[in-house]
Amino acid sequence: MAFWSRTKPLGGGELAAHHTLKRTLSWPHLVALGVGAIVGMGIYVLIGEAAGMAGPAVMISFAVVAAVCACVALAYSELATMMPVSGGAYSYSYAALGELAAWIIGWALILEYSVAASAVAVGWSGYVNSFLQSIGLDLPAALTSGPNHADMIGFFQGMGLPIPNPAYDAGEAASGIVNLPAIVIIFVVAGLLIIGARESANVNNVLVAIKLIALIAFIVLALPVFNAAHFEPLAPYGWGSVEQGGGKVGMMAAAALIFFAFYGFDAVSTAAEETKNPGRNMVIGIVGSMVVCAALYMAVAAAALGAMRHEGFKDAAAPLAFILEHIGRADAARIISAAVIVAVPSVILALMYGQSRIFFVMSRDGLLPQSVGRVHGRFGTPVGMTIVTAIACSVLAGFLPLAEIAYLANAGTLAAFTAVAVAMMVMRVKAPRAERPFRTPMAWVVGPLAVIGCLYLFTSLKSSTIVAFFCWMGVGLVVYFLYGVRKSALAHA
Ligand code: ALA
Repeated sequence: MAFWSRTKPLGGGELAAHHTLKRTLSWPHLVALGVGAIVGMGIYVLIGEAAGMAGPAVMISFAVVAAVCACVALAYSELATMMPVSGGAYSYSYAALGELAAWIIGWALILEYSVAASAVAVGWSGYVNSFLQSIGLDLPAALTSGPNHADMIGFFQGMGLPIPNPAYDAGEAASGIVNLPAIVIIFVVAGLLIIGARESANVNNVLVAIKLIALIAFIVLALPVFNAAHFEPLAPYGWGSVEQGGGKVGMMAAAALIFFAFYGFDAVSTAAEETKNPGRNMVIGIVGSMVVCAALYMAVAAAALGAMRHEGFKDAAAPLAFILEHIGRADAARIISAAVIVAVPSVILALMYGQSRIFFVMSRDGLLPQSVGRVHGRFGTPVGMTIVTAIACSVLAGFLPLAEIAYLANAGTLAAFTAVAVAMMVMRVKAPRAERPFRTPMAWVVGPLAVIGCLYLFTSLKSSTIVAFFCWMGVGLVVYFLYGVRKSALAHA
C-alpha cells in the first residue's frame, strides 16, 4: 500500500488492550480535567495583548473562538468515543486520513504541546516578577525576560546576519537577556514528570478551584469600578485582521491570538477509555469544560475593560494583577499573582505530559526512533525524551516573548483541530456503520464550520508565524521521508 494511504485499523489490538481499563470517570471529573488543562496564560496574560489588538471588541474575539472551538469539540467527542486510543488528533488522522497526514499532524502537535508549554512558562514568569516586585523583591531585568526586538536586531547586525522580521513593533516590551524563571519552571515540571508525578484527580481539583476562584475574584473586584465609556469605540482597529507594524491588528487578529486560551479541552479525549457512559459523559466533559471557560473568559474580559481602558494594560506582563493594582487593590493583586504561580504550572505539566504521549505513540508506530519512547529502568518514565523536550522548550521560553511563541503554538493547534474535523467527516464516509457512542449533531454543518473557522483563524495569524509554521512543517516532511516512510511499523506489517 502506498505510504500516504497507510491507515491504522479502527479495532486494533491496541484498542482491545485499552478496553481493560476500569471505567471510573463521570462528567464532573472530565470537566475538571478539561478546565485544569485549559485555564492558563491565555486568560491571565494574552488578554492584555489581544485587547491592545482589538480594543473592546476582544470580547467578540472570545465569542468567535468559542464558537469555532465548540464545533471542534463536538468532532473531538465523536472521535474520542469512537476510537478511545492514545495520541488524540495524531491517532484519529492515522485511522482516517493515512500515515502522511498523521505524521504531519503529529509534527504540528509538537507546536501545540511543547511550544505552548514554553509560552505558558513565559507568562508564568511575568506573574512571578509581578509578585516579587509587589513584595519589594526586584530580580535583575536581565534575568527576567528575553531580549526585546530592538536588542535582537542589534545582535543580528553585530553578527552580520540577516534581520528576522525587521518591521516588528516591540512596543514597550521589556528587554533582558534570558528569562530565567521560565526556564526554571520548565525543568521543575520536567523533573516531576521524570519521577512519575501525574496530576492526581484531587490535586487537579484543588488547582482548578484556585484558578477559577482567582478569575471570579478578579471579576468581583473589578466590577464596582466598571465604566461603560471604556467600551467606546468598540472596534478601534477594525473587525478583521490587518497588517500593522510587522504584526496584525483587528478583532480577528486578536481572535487568532486569544485562541491560545481555549485549547486543552482535547486533553479530556485522552480519558475516553476510562469514562463511564462515554457517549454522554465525554461530550459533557469536552464541550462543557470549553463552554465554562468561554463564559468565564468573556466575563473577565468585560470586567478588565470596564476597569481600565485597553491602552492601559495592553503591555502589562501580568495584566490582571496590573489592573487590580491600578484600582487600588494591591493586596488582591498579590494574592491573584500567587494563585497563578501555584496553579498554572499544572498546564505546563499537562502539555509536557501530552507531548510525551504523542512522541510515545509515534515511536511505537515506527515514525520516530524506538529510543524516543524508551522508558527509564528506575523511574519507569521516558527520561531522555523528557529532558530533550525540556531543553527545547527552555530555549524558546528563555529568549522569546510570550506572544511570539503563543502564535506558533496556535498555528500548530489550528492545523490539528482542522484535521480532527476532517477526520470526523471522513470516518462518517469510510466507516458509516462503526459504533459511535456519540454522534456530532448536524455533522455536515458542524464539521465544515469547524474547518472554515480554524482556517480563517489560521490566516488571521501574523504573516511571520505562518511562514515559520510552514518552515517547521517542511522540516517535518524531510524527517518523514528520511526516516518514517521506511521505518513505519505499517511498512513492515
Ligand atoms: N489554554 C492554555 C493556556 O491558556 C494553553 O495557558
